[in-house]
Amino acid sequence: MTNSKFTFLVLGGTGRTGKHFVSIALNAGHKVIALVRNPEKMDIQNPNLKVIKGTINDSYSIDELLNGVDFVVSMLGDARLQKLENVNTEFVKKLIPAMRRQKVKRFLYQAGGFSRPHKEKLPFMFWVLKQTMVRFSGLLGQHRDNEAVIKYLTEQANDIEWMVHRASIISDDASKGNLTRSKTKNSLATFVDCAAFNYQLLLDETAIHTCDLSYYAK
Ligand SMILES: NC(=O)c1ccc[n+]([C@@H]2O[C@H](COP(=O)([O-])OP(=O)(O)OC[C@H]3O[C@@H](n4cnc5c(N)ncnc54)[C@H](OP(=O)(O)O)[C@@H]3O)[C@@H](O)[C@H]2O)c1
Repeated sequence: MTNSKFTFLVLGGTGRTGKHFVSIALNAGHKVIALVRNPEKMDIQNPNLKVIKGTINDSYSIDELLNGVDFVVSMLGDARLQKLENVNTEFVKKLIPAMRRQKVKRFLYQAGGFSRPHKEKLPFMFWVLKQTMVRFSGLLGQHRDNEAVIKYLTEQANDIEWMVHRASIISDDASKGNLTRSKTKNSLATFVDCAAFNYQLLLDETAIHTCDLSYYAK
């Protein structure tokens, strides 16, 4: 699978993780379709990159966006809007039926380490940090939205090859190494390493229907 060339529909491609993901996919020779609110923020130029101006809230045809797509990747986030409503969940609830119609099977969603897997509890220290640091940073809404996406995928989308990366990210510094999937261990990673991990995860069949953390194994 790693030698094949694919088309990725990237949501959040101008974001801190998404911009690295777009570069990684293009550098590996794949095609990328990026739905972006602000095309001027997309500073990558590549014949294999198609930038479409729009937001996930627009009432355009998602089916058209999915034309010829192999993988859908969401690195979406808007903490201000997500405080008020589950915008990502509303979008994912439209995306998944469109993926079924267009026969696009695989979807990666980047959530956070503080986003709880469906019907599971966070480890005690994660819970404490979520009720303090995350709450005071104004990010509880983002995790509530991520958790609603995870619930929807788990309960209503098991025919889709979804995977959730519960990322922990600290900086936009250079790579600190390769991240590895884990149910229990996490590292404070860089955006570029999370993007590289997302790329590997998408091609990893053993990651289907997982909702794991990531850590630097060495
Ligand atoms: N940042 C962290 O430290 C961190 C840590 C762990 C997990 N995460 C999770 O990872 C995800 C991505 O994080 P990030 O920090 O890489 O994100 P980010 O830098 O905030 O970027 C978010 C991306 O989503 C796009 N976006 C937001 N609302 C949109 C809409 N309505 N329509 C279209 N595009 C929209 C943004 O577009 P614009 O460029 O136009 O704003 C941007 O490209 C989030 O869900 C977050 O929970 C983040």
